[in-house]
Amino acid sequence: MLVLGIETSCDETSMAIYDSKEGIKGSIISSQIDLHKKFGGVVPEIASRNHLLKLEEIFLSLLNEAKIDKKDIDLIGVTNAPGLIGSLFVGVAFAKGLAYGLKKPLIPVNHLAAHTLSCEIENPSLKPPYLSFIISGGHTHIYKVDDAYNFYLLSHTVDDAVGECFDKVAKMMNLPYPGGPEIERLALQGDENKIKFPVALKNSVNFSFSGLKTAVLNVLEKNEYSIEDVAASFQFSIFNNFINKLDKIIDKYKLRKITVSGGVSANSYLRNKLSSYYQKKGIELFFPSKRLCTDNGDMIAYTAYKFFRKRKFMGVKETAYDVMPD
Ligand code: KG4
Ligand code: ZN
Repeated sequence: MLVLGIETSCDETSMAIYDSKEGIKGSIISSQIDLHKKFGGVVPEIASRNHLLKLEEIFLSLLNEAKIDKKDIDLIGVTNAPGLIGSLFVGVAFAKGLAYGLKKPLIPVNHLAAHTLSCEIENPSLKPPYLSFIISGGHTHIYKVDDAYNFYLLSHTVDDAVGECFDKVAKMMNLPYPGGPEIERLALQGDENKIKFPVALKNSVNFSFSGLKTAVLNVLEKNEYSIEDVAASFQFSIFNNFINKLDKIIDKYKLRKITVSGGVSANSYLRNKLSSYYQKKGIELFFPSKRLCTDNGDMIAYTAYKFFRKRKFMGVKETAYDVMPD
């Protein structure tokens, strides 16, 4: 079975072909970062207009790369929610047109489920039940995923998402968008034990990053420490926040496998720190390769394939957020 995945929920226009026998046959990720950089963040109107400009070109290049004809596609999956509404509309409209024209079924795919399943694409032995820890620009969520791929939300942020916190702290340091990779780079030269930043809601499973942001701002305004030390100490506090919540959930649900996905999971410092911490506890962590940490069509195609027997198809009259995918 050949599945086309379409992703346009934020600032990446991406499509991929997943072959149920051979895996990913082709994948294109076109990032709009350069268009948004000068505004210090993603501008929704610019994002949706540029998805519209790119989709057809990416589709044709993808067919070429995967060496298939459009008639060979058996199933189409498209990100349906959550995301920027205008950007989702563009991807969904393109997918519906294609599905209607090719007379193929269309599956609405939940972006968060897809980030979770991105960890399975390169780890074929990984099967639920597991915990899914999603750390992106829009979300900081922990789900329990059962063996029928039902998702149960166990923890979430009560204010900023962790990626958003990286981006805002980077902005305070006059670093460009997206801030995550910039802070990671600076932190390599800093001392993570220099400043003790807080872990919020210590007795709760939920996250909060607004106090951390203010604490970083206060330290930067005093100008006592190098920004390298601030970046390293900030990252260490993010790690401490993560294990404070994950440990409580692991104790309660007794699951020994955790997937860690979304843009922030590309951070090598956090990957290494979390892996060695949980290895000592006998818990297995699964990350996507770095290319699949940020938004991509691969995870949408794969999730559409995994869900197509049990999920609702999308009709021509439905649009983004109309059909809740899980
Ligand atoms: O998953 P994603 O591409 O988009 C959303 O669905 O939100 O995540 C984007 C987020 C941004 O906030 C970006 O700063 C963060 O992921 N990010 C990182 C790193 N690379 C991307 N954060 C920390 N370290 C990184 N290396
Ligand atoms: Zn995402």
